[in-house]
Amino acid sequence: MKPVTLRLNPALQYGTVQPRLYGHFAEHLGRCCYDGLWDGHSFPGGVVQLLRELPVPLLRWPGGCYADRYHWKDGIGPRSSRPRRLGMSCGLQVVEDHSLGTHEFMQLCRLLQAEPYFAGNMGTGSPQEMCDWVEYCNSPLDTNLTNLRRKNGAPEPFGIRLWGVGNENWGCGGNYDAHSYALEYRRYATMLRHVEPALELVVCGFDEPWNKKVLETLGRHLDLINHFSIHHYWGGCGPATGFNEAQYYGLLRAAASTEEFVASTARLLEQATGEKGKIGVALDEWGVWHPEATTGSKYEQPGTLRDALAAAVALRGFHRQSAVLSLANLAQIVNVLQAPVQTTGATCWVTPTWHVFHLHAPHMGGVAVEAEVVDEDNLPDPAAATLATATQHQDSKLVVTVINSHLEAARQVTLATEFTRVQRARLLTAATPREQNTALQPENVKPVELEVAVRDGQLSWALPPHSLATLELAANGK
Ligand code: AHR
Repeated sequence: MKPVTLRLNPALQYGTVQPRLYGHFAEHLGRCCYDGLWDGHSFPGGVVQLLRELPVPLLRWPGGCYADRYHWKDGIGPRSSRPRRLGMSCGLQVVEDHSLGTHEFMQLCRLLQAEPYFAGNMGTGSPQEMCDWVEYCNSPLDTNLTNLRRKNGAPEPFGIRLWGVGNENWGCGGNYDAHSYALEYRRYATMLRHVEPALELVVCGFDEPWNKKVLETLGRHLDLINHFSIHHYWGGCGPATGFNEAQYYGLLRAAASTEEFVASTARLLEQATGEKGKIGVALDEWGVWHPEATTGSKYEQPGTLRDALAAAVALRGFHRQSAVLSLANLAQIVNVLQAPVQTTGATCWVTPTWHVFHLHAPHMGGVAVEAEVVDEDNLPDPAAATLATATQHQDSKLVVTVINSHLEAARQVTLATEFTRVQRARLLTAATPREQNTALQPENVKPVELEVAVRDGQLSWALPPHSLATLELAANGK
């Protein structure tokens, strides 16, 4: 077993790991919302319980591409009188009965204790329609719209702070060019801020030329932007389960590149505003998109341990970018793409990605500090490295996650620290990174307790190949 040394540098602090970095995304696409989260009348208890446990601090809705055709007024009032219309996203066409609308989604957020993040319609909508949605949801005044909200069962304003102005408007959301989008954004954002000055508005970003043009066009109106949305999907890494070694490492490399994508977007924003982090980067869709996830499969794909390790690599990058990354949403929350929860009929189970999020949950709220792994092995690929992330918490707790990405070689990790009281230590691995959970084998991949040796102020533990472990540590005597 190759020895590796983990060195923490508490003096080098990246920033606080805000719960918003652990957000999720629920689109009216395939079986994510309908037949996943929502059964037409209610949110199935099993799915809700798995998501509450995760937890889900932030939830983006209703799209995605779907958002740019969504008329919110179709989704309020008695369900029996809501219209049945053509629902569309990503080439899928369905009958949308609007049974899951604003009030239902807010009920879900309450059940999950999640902060809502709404995406407005800039494809077929108007600034007036979006302003009305904000007024309906958030205003405490006595207006026709707010009284309609009260009549529909919500006496108090919902208080939704985060609003996306369109989605992927360089593509599905209207095929805008960057200049026209920026002008349209300026109009929407100005009017939305009149309705509620404290809204946090999210502008649609894309690649560097688009982002530069949007920032340049908005010029002296950059204060209309709170968050800058970018999306990062990893593809081209072979099939979901039958991948080879090169494809295994390829996915981990793609996941690692997410950090630089965030960092380079943040550099552009800093150049434009003159201040680091003034406009946050909103990575509001991210994850693996396997070739199996197509229109024909309703964007569903198997979720393996490889995907979960890739998510862990990305989350490490989020911690390191926590000074500039203001929110992130895994795509998507149930059934679609890299879903943490999958369902068939009334049966639901968690994917290895769910376990990675669950293992990382104790990092939330902590300050991310530099965590360097000294590994002198000859690696088959740089993506095979042992990677670590660590957060320090006010209650004198240290949380450390270490990933051994190597496909075949185990690692023996040592860490010299004053945090030698092991409160909890869990390991996630499987016989091969191709393993997944299914309805028939829902616990095929799940964490086990990790054995940690403590001696002379030093912790030591073994990491099998393709594994990760999270240790929750307290200072001795705490
Ligand atoms: O998450 C699936 C789709 O991917 C979203 O609707 C869109 O925003 C992106 O292209």
